[in-house]
Amino acid sequence: MRKLEEVYEGKAKKVFKTDDPQLFIVSYKDDATALDGLKKGTILGKGVINNQMTNRLMAKMEKAGIPTHFVRELSERETLVKKVSIVPLEVIVRNISAGHFASRYGVEEGIVFDQPTIEFSYKNDALHDPLLNEYHALALKLATREEIDLIKKYAFAVNDVLKAFWAECGVTLVDFKLEFGKLSDGTIVLADEISPDTCRLWDSVTHEKLDKDRFRRDMGGVEDAYTEIMKRLVEHDQ
Ligand code: TMP
Ligand code: ASP
Repeated sequence: MRKLEEVYEGKAKKVFKTDDPQLFIVSYKDDATALDGLKKGTILGKGVINNQMTNRLMAKMEKAGIPTHFVRELSERETLVKKVSIVPLEVIVRNISAGHFASRYGVEEGIVFDQPTIEFSYKNDALHDPLLNEYHALALKLATREEIDLIKKYAFAVNDVLKAFWAECGVTLVDFKLEFGKLSDGTIVLADEISPDTCRLWDSVTHEKLDKDRFRRDMGGVEDAYTEIMKRLVEHDQ
């Protein structure tokens, strides 16, 4: 598989064309941003961890019947994926109050919900990813009704698989963000990443944060948290 020109550089990843028009290569960087890119930094080794963690978790999703863009890992930082056009929706599932849920609704972090919530935001940095509902997404033609229904079904299924797996690792899955893509034939698949950048992961006993909140909130111990969460995944992913 030959890596050709770069098609896109995001905040944490680059995407390259390959000699197969249906396949792209994703390359994970150590760059970290928060607050819409206002806060910038580096988390040493993050690219390797996020690449390997995403791939192992994507493989679990495939096993559970959730289609993904994952094809195969090429190296520590690089993965071959199916070419998709990203549906411009950030899909956020929450099991416990934290982050913007807590600040938006004026509640403390750590409230365990009776059932998970789902929300969408419009993936648009210039507009600061505004929250929207399904009617807004339809009005803006970001997705069809059928696509939104399928995305919701897959997102809750991802939650079930992820929550159960992280529990085995002594980790509580607080919330996470997913992105979906469309293959050239229109099939919806899970895309992007599933990593400590895109999930809130708390130690089940101490509630210590093992995710990017340590960077967002200047808590220190960022690299150690990424290393610890990856270690737990590898130990339990047999
Ligand atoms: P929030 O509480 O800030 O809305 O975040 C919810 C989840 O989504 C959390 O696990 C972090 C993740 N997330 C991203 O992956 N990218 C983003 O740009 C934001 C704001 C959150
Ligand atoms: N990745 C997002 C940004 O750079 C925010 C975040 O993850 O908190 O703005």
